[in-house]
Amino acid sequence: MDLPLKQTLTPDYFDALYSLDPDPWKFETSEYEAQKYAATLAALSKHQYRSALEIGTSIGVLTEMLAAPCTSLLSIDVCEIAQQQAIARCRSLSNVRFQLMGVPDAYPSEQFDLTVLSEVGYYWCREDLEKAQQLILQHLEPGGHLLLVHWTPYDDDYHNPLSGDQVHDSFLALPTSQLKHLKGDRAEKYRLDLFERMPEKSV
Ligand SMILES: C[S@@+](CC[C@H](N)C(=O)[O-])C[C@H]1O[C@@H](n2cnc3c(N)ncnc32)[C@H](O)[C@@H]1O
Repeated sequence: MDLPLKQTLTPDYFDALYSLDPDPWKFETSEYEAQKYAATLAALSKHQYRSALEIGTSIGVLTEMLAAPCTSLLSIDVCEIAQQQAIARCRSLSNVRFQLMGVPDAYPSEQFDLTVLSEVGYYWCREDLEKAQQLILQHLEPGGHLLLVHWTPYDDDYHNPLSGDQVHDSFLALPTSQLKHLKGDRAEKYRLDLFERMPEKSV
C-alpha cells in the first residue's frame, strides 16, 4: 500500500501528546497492550542479553519488563516529558539507563546484542527509516537480535508517515547476509518480527 509522503514526526508532536495525557496509548491499563507486551517478552524468552537498546521509551511500561532479560538496558526517546515518567517507574532498576535522543539524527555510540523497536518505526519518513535501519545494523553485534513490534491497521484516521507493515517489510527486504529472519507473528492488530544480525563477511 502506498501512503502519501509525509515528514518524520517531531519532538513537538510527542510533547503535545504527553502534555494532554500522560499515558496517551493507555500502556499502563490496556489489556491489548498487556497481551502484546507478553508476546514481545515471549519472543525474547530463550535469551539473556548483555547490552540492549530500546528505541522509544515512552513512559517505560515495556522498559520495566525488558529489564529482566537484559544485563544492561539503554532506553532512548525523543520526548523528555514521557521519559521522566519512565525514569521514575524504573528508579529501582540499576541495570536500566535513559538518554534523550531522536533517531536517526542521533544514535548511541555503543554496540548492542538486542535492539527493540516497538511502535516507533512508523513515525519516520521513508528516508529516516532507511537511515535508522543502517544505524541499527551498524550498532548490532553479530548474532545480536532485532525485535520489531508495530500496530498494523490502516484507516482514514491513520496519520503516521509509514504503516507498520511498511516498517516490517523494509527490514525483511534487507539482504539476508545482513539480517536473518528468525520469527514472524501477525496478530489481529499488530505484527512482530525477530531478526538476527549476521556476521560481516571478509572479502
Ligand atoms: C507509541 S510510543 C511506544 C512506546 C514503547 N516502545 C512501547 O511499545 O510501549 C512511541 C514513543 O516513541 C518516541 N519516538 C518517536 N519518534 C522517535 C524518534 N525518532 N526517536 C526516538 N524516540 C521516538 C515517542 O516520543 C514515544 O514516546
